[in-house]
Amino acid sequence: MKSILFVPADNERKLAKAVSCGADALAFDLEDSVLPERKPLARQLLVEYLKTYSGASEVWIRVNDLASGELLRDLAAVVASKPVGIVLPKVFGPEDITTVSHYLDMAETQAGLPLGGIAILAVITETPAAVLRMGEFTRHSFPRLKALMWGGEDLSSAMGAGDPRQADGRWRPVYEHARIQCLLAAHALGVEALDTVYVDFRNSDGCRANSEGARYDGFTGKCAIHPDQVPVINAAFSPSEEEIAFAHRVIAAFETGAGAVQLDGKMLDVPHLKAARRLLAAAGV
Ligand code: COA
Ligand code: MG
Repeated sequence: MKSILFVPADNERKLAKAVSCGADALAFDLEDSVLPERKPLARQLLVEYLKTYSGASEVWIRVNDLASGELLRDLAAVVASKPVGIVLPKVFGPEDITTVSHYLDMAETQAGLPLGGIAILAVITETPAAVLRMGEFTRHSFPRLKALMWGGEDLSSAMGAGDPRQADGRWRPVYEHARIQCLLAAHALGVEALDTVYVDFRNSDGCRANSEGARYDGFTGKCAIHPDQVPVINAAFSPSEEEIAFAHRVIAAFETGAGAVQLDGKMLDVPHLKAARRLLAAAGV
């Protein structure tokens, strides 16, 4: 998925708007955009809304974390709505993903759904423990895991630290470290790597630059918090005409049968050929 738009589930106007935003996926939020006293209402509104949902965007639901005391209530309420998956925040380590997979086994059984159908997108940089234990995730297999996502705000909050961004918008070193760890872990596990939100949602040039940077780093998609960010993110994660044209030229340059060739005075070898093929595949060429 290129874009996944967060939608506070207790807000009927946003629920109504979400369907036409053009996001590859919607993450209906029961967690931090919903105040504790409104969580029962949010679950109720969301379940009603999903009864008639017929949009093209995949339905994901961000549930509350394992330590919140709300997670079982979330799963009991929403699993029967057959979301594509759940977004699991504030993970502490690989065992959390396994535990929640078991909870989903139970909830799917109760709802008469096929076992293992609901996927997990885990947010694995929101606790210091998870960042320190990142390598452990790659030594497990998680059949339900479809994507990893990173976020800096909760990590900062967990440490009583300040704004995770520097004045020029770059991440402070701790958060850049967490971001890179998450990116590597996702690719090591062979799942999608999703970049965190760009909070300055009125700044579309900033969102474009930030999204393009994330794609160049190897992220496969990015979260949105506002409908206006969705087309910007979708475009940034789609190969441009220039990139497609260049990839064709790279492939043509290898038609001589040599493993190392030159193009525009620069050396190309097999990794460049693979990258060009991957780009064309991503572009559907
Ligand atoms: N999903 C769906 N619709 C949204 C939306 C979202 N995330 N954010 C805004 N909209 C809708 C608004 O309801 C409004 O439509 P309306 O006039 O029909 O009500 C329209 O888009 C324009 O919204 P705008 O007035 O520009 O923004 P806002 O002040 O209503 O909301 C935010 C700004 C940041 C509070 C809002 O975008 C938001 O709630 N984002 C998601 C927050 C979230 O989920 N955080 C947790 C994950 S990090
Ligand atoms: Mg959060």
